[in-house]
Amino acid sequence: MRSIAVIGYGVVGSGVVEVIYNNAEVIERKLGEKIEVKYILDLRDFPDSPYATKFIKDFNIILNDPEVSVVAEMITNAKVAYEYTKQALSAGKSVVTSSKAVVAQYGAELLALAREHNAAYLFEASVGGGIPIIRPMHQCLAANEIDEVEGILNGTTNYILTKMFREKLSFEDALGQAQANGYAELNPAADVEGLDTCRKICILASLAFGRHVYPDRVHTEGITSMSLQDMDNLNQADMTVKLLGRAYRKGDQLFAMVCPCAISHDHPLANVEDVFNAILVKGNATGDVMFYGKGAGKLPTASAVVADIIDVCKNGDRSKDISWKAVDVEFVSDYQLEKTAFYLRTEVTDRRKALNYAKKLFGNVRVFDGAENELCFITETALENQLAGKLEAFSQSAEVSAVKNKIRVL
Ligand code: HSE
Repeated sequence: MRSIAVIGYGVVGSGVVEVIYNNAEVIERKLGEKIEVKYILDLRDFPDSPYATKFIKDFNIILNDPEVSVVAEMITNAKVAYEYTKQALSAGKSVVTSSKAVVAQYGAELLALAREHNAAYLFEASVGGGIPIIRPMHQCLAANEIDEVEGILNGTTNYILTKMFREKLSFEDALGQAQANGYAELNPAADVEGLDTCRKICILASLAFGRHVYPDRVHTEGITSMSLQDMDNLNQADMTVKLLGRAYRKGDQLFAMVCPCAISHDHPLANVEDVFNAILVKGNATGDVMFYGKGAGKLPTASAVVADIIDVCKNGDRSKDISWKAVDVEFVSDYQLEKTAFYLRTEVTDRRKALNYAKKLFGNVRVFDGAENELCFITETALENQLAGKLEAFSQSAEVSAVKNKIRVL
């Protein structure tokens, strides 16, 4: 029998315990022995839980118990999660986690610490919920140079965008539903402002390119400005909107970015809807490989954590195969040096004059029908820094009272 500890009994932590006991038979068949949750650490009390006797509040009990060789970390507070992870790894205990904030910021350091202490640090659940992506990327695609990884990496925002697009739900109502379904972060700002996607693309980019890509190096925009009007307009142009995390090589340069993108209906990610995530990986030998599944939610995410527990129990330190290094030099290129087109929704005082000025600045624009006080259009493609300069001039003109939304058109 293998004894493990679960730290953090929130949505995912409670799901992990549930999966371990509900699927005990299949897990034992695969592992060859039982997994026993010896401790559950949480600050809160759960007197009515069937596992009430397992709850503790002192992490030292886990650290000092030689029977516990694996710690499943699902703590919401990233600072606490990071500290406990360091302590567990330093004590030679393997850690598996769903905490993307910790992996995205400290992955290189924690992987090195795990190696130093002959322990494993695995984080399959940190990206894509129940979708196997971390292990396939570092094992199955090991023979490839990865040129690009991009995807829909946040279930909450994809759910919101789908509900707005398909059912004309308001942003707020759709977010409320995502929260009720347990998809959103405790503070949903991390979802809707793109930070969660940013952390996940950092993990994938680090894995793909071997150097730690830190979240503060990645330009990030969320979906809070999105309106039903934007959805309708882009639909007329045969496009939909998705919040994408993208990281790719171009010669010696690496670009990484998170933003809502208008993509054509026949783009491989266009039909990924609701809470589903999809990740497109371009390998130089495989070509395009797509991973698809439920990107958030209690049991899909818990299933990925439990798979890591089984892997550690069975195979020992698999994280030795994962190597990305912390580097001091800035190696993520300026996103403004890429070409793009903008879809813009602006509030105007004089539509005709504003349109004439838009044509002068942005060339052959595609204009959408709309109210007298609104002008929505798609610019021609140009370098982003040039478009940004023109947009600044446009927003300063007397005919334009506000730029309400800007979406990059892929
Ligand atoms: N809030 C996250 C999401 C949970 O919506 O994708 C899974 O990481």
